[in-house]
Amino acid sequence: MASRVIPVQPFDLVIFGGTGDLARRKILPALFRRYCAGQMGAEARVIGAARADMDDAGYRDFARAAITEFSADSAYAHTHLDDFLARLGYVTLDAGGDEGWGALKKTLGEGERIRAFYFSVGPSLFGDLAARIETHGLAGADARVVVEKPFGRDLASARALNSALARHFDETQIYRIDHYLGKETVQNLMAIRFGNMLFEPLWNSQYVDHIQITVAESGGVGARGEYYDKSGAMRDMVQNHIMQLLCLTAMEPPAKYDPHAVRDEKLKVIRALGPIEPADVVRGQYEGSESLPSYQSEVGSDETDTESFVALKARIGNWRWAGTPFYLRTGKRLRARASEIAVVFKDAPHSIFGADAGRHRNILTIRLQPNEGIEMGVTIKEPGPGGMRLVDVPLDMTFSEALGPDAADVPDAYERLIMDVIRGDQTLFMRGDEVEAAWEWTDPIIEAWEASGTAPCTYAPGSAGPDDALALMHRDGRRWREIRT
Ligand code: BG6
Repeated sequence: MASRVIPVQPFDLVIFGGTGDLARRKILPALFRRYCAGQMGAEARVIGAARADMDDAGYRDFARAAITEFSADSAYAHTHLDDFLARLGYVTLDAGGDEGWGALKKTLGEGERIRAFYFSVGPSLFGDLAARIETHGLAGADARVVVEKPFGRDLASARALNSALARHFDETQIYRIDHYLGKETVQNLMAIRFGNMLFEPLWNSQYVDHIQITVAESGGVGARGEYYDKSGAMRDMVQNHIMQLLCLTAMEPPAKYDPHAVRDEKLKVIRALGPIEPADVVRGQYEGSESLPSYQSEVGSDETDTESFVALKARIGNWRWAGTPFYLRTGKRLRARASEIAVVFKDAPHSIFGADAGRHRNILTIRLQPNEGIEMGVTIKEPGPGGMRLVDVPLDMTFSEALGPDAADVPDAYERLIMDVIRGDQTLFMRGDEVEAAWEWTDPIIEAWEASGTAPCTYAPGSAGPDDALALMHRDGRRWREIRT
């Protein structure tokens, strides 16, 4: 089933930090793929802006190398690449000074086109960039700014960033990226919940025993040790990506699929989250093995207490979810790269088959990655003449099998999100109050760790995390699902 491509209007996209890692790995390859798909038209322009001394031709070489490395699988690379590169330009510019801004203004010209500014730089530069865009008269009422995570490292810093941006831009112009919202299957969560009659009547504490959200990674921190060690899994994954998954799983049906309605409902979920007791959260840090370095050696410190794993039990204090815990876990260097949301339903109220039939439960699993799809565990009779014995089997739908080979070629999250910026659709971006509410919930958890001074539990590489995380569920008479692809 080929996806329908609706071209966006002509636009100018300025990438501040245009020679950085994100531009190289994600933004330029994503734009190239949208160009090949016919969604970004030939009138569009992409202008890299950074401190490096470079001209247009140099930037095109940089982009060619990036696309060849990160979009090499694109079937169109050999036919469309030169055309795409002709849409690129470059301006040497100092975000904190005045150098280059006149040249950028001249390059942009006066046209009536959609204008977007991508802040692919550290958050310390957001305020400077926003101010200079305004003083140099680069942004009309229709301009957009795109900002990346980390959006602050606590509530106070997130508030400071929000107000720095708000001095120059309206909230309707600010696009805060959480790339999980651009993932096809994360959007599918909304389609599954609100496009079907089947699930919503059961989607509450009356029928759901608990929900597990797992985002497991098999890789370690790698070259990002310096950033990661100041952040840790709670700030890097839970406050943003896992929070978004939790919100989309738990929120009330919005009245319509639009930025206000969807984000209002997500915000209500965050605000309904109860405080986390210290006993309900486990932090972990991976050890090394013969072939793999430990977390501490990867970040170059044998004293660091930063967590590479978190598991916690969250409660949502509202009518729908009172009494149904949400168990969340994420970590690096785990058994597999596997992310899923598992909705575990309660036992049938009475077993007509007697105790020997065992305990059977329906579990709806939404697999985010890899093998995107949904699986419904149902209980049936075990085949054979052995009497009425029950067994659980999966009703399994892998999207690429159900929808044909095109569905396997899922666009990268950045492709979707950048096109949404140009279309002016903020539904899949975080609103300022949402980000602040998420920090408001996360901050006390981090503060409690810091105050306790306890080190994270260690776990073996390739495991399911520390034993304490298993105990977190065992003591409730439940257990984590296996981490597997
Ligand atoms: C990033 C985190 O936001 O998300 C990384 O900073 C993490 O630490 C990554 O590895 C996971 O994203 P994905 O798309 O690979 O699941």
